[in-house]
This record gives sequence, C-alpha cells and structure tokens, in this order.
Amino acid sequence: MYFHLIGNFNTSAPTGQADADVAALVSEANGTLLAKGAPEGKGARILDLRIEDQKIRVEIESDQYVRAHDAILRLRKPLATLLGKKYRIGIRGIEIESYVAKIPSKNPVKAEKIPYVSNMAFDGDDITIEMEIGEPEIRNSIPDRIITLITDKIAAEGYGGKEEHWNLLWESAEKPILSGEDPTPELVKRNWVKHGASRGQWIYGPEATRIFRTFEQIVKKEVLDFLGYQEMIFPKLVTWDVWKKSGHAKGVYPEIYYVCPPKTRDPDFWEEVSDYYKVTHEIPLDLIAEKIDKPIGGLCYAQCPPFWPFLQGKTIADDAFPIQVFDRSGTSHRYESGGIHGIERVDEFHRIEIVWMGTPEHVVEEAERIHERYKYIFEEILELTWRKAWVTPWFMAQEGLTGTTGNEKVGTTDYESFMPYRDDWLEFQNVSVNGDKYPLGFNVKSQSGNELWSGCSGVGLERWASSFFAQKGIDYENWPESFKEIVGELPKGFAFM
Ligand code: SER
Ligand code: ZN
Repeated sequence: MYFHLIGNFNTSAPTGQADADVAALVSEANGTLLAKGAPEGKGARILDLRIEDQKIRVEIESDQYVRAHDAILRLRKPLATLLGKKYRIGIRGIEIESYVAKIPSKNPVKAEKIPYVSNMAFDGDDITIEMEIGEPEIRNSIPDRIITLITDKIAAEGYGGKEEHWNLLWESAEKPILSGEDPTPELVKRNWVKHGASRGQWIYGPEATRIFRTFEQIVKKEVLDFLGYQEMIFPKLVTWDVWKKSGHAKGVYPEIYYVCPPKTRDPDFWEEVSDYYKVTHEIPLDLIAEKIDKPIGGLCYAQCPPFWPFLQGKTIADDAFPIQVFDRSGTSHRYESGGIHGIERVDEFHRIEIVWMGTPEHVVEEAERIHERYKYIFEEILELTWRKAWVTPWFMAQEGLTGTTGNEKVGTTDYESFMPYRDDWLEFQNVSVNGDKYPLGFNVKSQSGNELWSGCSGVGLERWASSFFAQKGIDYENWPESFKEIVGELPKGFAFM
C-alpha cells in the first residue's frame, strides 16, 4: 500500500522566524516519531516542507503501517509545543490539500460513490483513490474505513462473488420418503393455504395452522421447557439504531421492508389523500410519498437483534445467568427477489427465535444441548432425512460477508432437509454461536466481569412444514405415528363451491 498526502498546518501568525526550528523538528521526526510502531524502515516520511506565511505545508508518503494521515496528526502536538513555547504561535488546524492512496489489486472493484472519495482508478496493479478529507475526518478514522472498505471489496472479488461457505458436519440415515411432489400446489388444492395479498405471503388455513402450532408445541416441550427457556416478546419494527449495533446496517438494504411513519397524524394534513381515494378509488401514491417521513427502520428481519436493547448498557447480576429466552410473537420479513417459491421461500415468515447468553463455555455447551434436542425431534418425531452443515454465519452473511469467523467455535450450523421433489436440500433452521458480537455491540456486561457470549437459533415454521410435507406428503394417514399423536385430529377446514 502507498499513501501520499499534502497538508497544511494553519497557524495563528506567520512562522517564517521559526523556519530553522520547524525544519529541525521535521527531519528529526522522520525515522523517530513517524516510524514508531512500524517495522524497521517502514515508517512515514516527510518528503518536503514549506513555510509560507501562516501555513506550514508538508508532503508525506507512507505505506500501511503509519499511514500518512496518522503521520500528520502525530506531528501536530510537537509542532504546537515548539511554536507555542518559543514563538507564542498557535496551530489553528490541519487542512488537507490532497490525499492519494494506492491499494494493490489484480482487479478493479465495484464502488460507485464512496463518501469522501473524489476519484478512483485502476491501472492493472493498483486501485488509486483520491480522498477529500480534513482533520475531523482523520480523527474519526474515515480514511482507514475507506481503505478497509476497498480491501474488503478486493477480498470479496477474490471469493468470486458471494459464494457461501458450506461444510457438511453430519447426515441422518435415509428415512421413508412418501412423496415426490412439490407440497405447495397440493396444499393450495386442498385449501390448506392460499396466497396472501402481498408478495411471498400466505394465509394459513385451519389445517396448516394446526401443523404450525404443533411444531411450536414440539419445540416448546422438547427444547424450550426441557432446557429451561423463558418466553419474551421482541419488537417487530426494528430501527436503524438496532441495526447499526447488530451489523445489519452494513448490508441488509436490498432485503428490508422499510417502515415510514406519517409526517403528522393531523387528519387535516391527510384529508386530501382520503378525498382523492373516495373520488377516484385509487390510492394517491405520490401524494402519500410526500406525506410520510423517511424510513425509521424496517420490519423484523433476523428476529433476535430487537431483543438486545432490553439488555443494552446493563450489567447483569451473576445469579441471572444463564439467560435463555425465546420469542414467537410475530413475523419476519425479507424482500426475497425472484427466489420466492411456494411456502418454501417467502417474504413473510413465522419463526421461533431462541437466544441464550453466558460465558463462552456455557454458550458453546448450550448450542450442543440444543443440537441434541433437535436431533431427537427430527429422528424420533418427524422422522426426516436431514443433515447439518457449517456455513457462513448468518450474522456475517447478513452483513454481506462470505467465509467464516475463523474461530471454530463461533459460527452457524444450518439444518437442511432433503426435498425429494427437486432432489435437493432446503435450509430449514439454524443454530449459531455468535461469540461476543451482541454483548459487545449492545454493551452488555456481567457482574463478575466474565466475558459474555451469546447464541441464537431460528426455527422456521414454513421451512419445517415444507420439509415435512415434501418428505411425508399431505395425507395424514401416512405421517409418522409419533407426529400424529401430537397433532391429534386435524381441524376441518374450508371447502369452496
Ligand atoms: N437470527 C438468526 C437468523 O436470522 C436465527 O434466526 O438467521
Ligand atoms: Zn438470531
């Protein structure tokens, strides 16, 4: 990496008289102050110094160790001390005339508009960026974040786009497959489900709802009550503030259902909208767009992030551990692009979200206990053909990252079921050890001061239903006895003429 900066220290009075002292300080700084922390010979260097009236102009080059923007900040204090003590001159501020960075890369990267970057070019060896920054931006680490952004983009190119990590961990024996059909059309035919009015949304009739509730009941008994979880109700409108702390603000934009509040609830303000509708029977969308505020966030996406403000900034009493809670109070929403399919891939879905927190050991062991309980359910009750894989953790994927955390204990295990009708596998739930990401992001501490980790697991009811119906079909008589016992008699649903 290479950095080249030209900057001025603006002074409160002309500094011509201090010329020799400033030059001495600068030549001294090369190799000492500007090399501190860098490997031998790799510090930043001042190439040129000019004193013009109330400006001390420096030209600095560096590689990645002491970056030129850090180097100019390092100079400020000794320079201020020198000028202040001997000449009674103050430094008013630093002004950056030009700042260029070269980042080695074999490929160009896609980046339309990066804040503070006025130009970006690729010459086959390097990506060269010009930054327009000042002292406040340097103090706020803006140049470093720009460099990280570009190097992350270069790394992502290297992965060949968004390829997810996938590593098989375990595979069940093959269980009886009683269907070769795509379940959704059959469910529709029997009026168990019907398309909702919105995209990727379904209305579940009494029979399908009974199945969903039975799944919940099984998870409640065999996982949550068995392991001692308490029910909570998490919010379903998630604000930017939460997504900044959870990391979603880094990448979830294409999939959010955005939420905009009205600019005011004053009926007079809205009257023209209702009048327009009453006369035309059309919704005046442009008019509404003028009358709503910018989005304050979006609908629930990952389900666990909006739980964390409950603990935010708190120190948790030692006897409150382990923390083991779950939420099943509402839907999650994802704008799923073209991939929506039946009840298998939807924009609006139902999920039980399980969250636990404690010491790293506890969190890892708890994940194992949860895995054991799920295994019992899929083997003994639902009799599924299923497998587990170590994948790109959900919290990385949702930030737009690929790969894994590098820590073999921190990450996501996906559960996949075999879908006979398309001879492929479907992710139907996950279990994750999220490391310290959430306690750190939401500033949660323990009384003992022990490190805190957390984990979560999402049980997707649409995905469970898709898996079960795809393998066992929709005929009650064929279902495993163990499951029928829990379902009981199916309710009599709708018939249409
Ligand atoms: N929060 C996790 C996810 O969104 C588990 O549900 O995948
Ligand atoms: Zn979660």
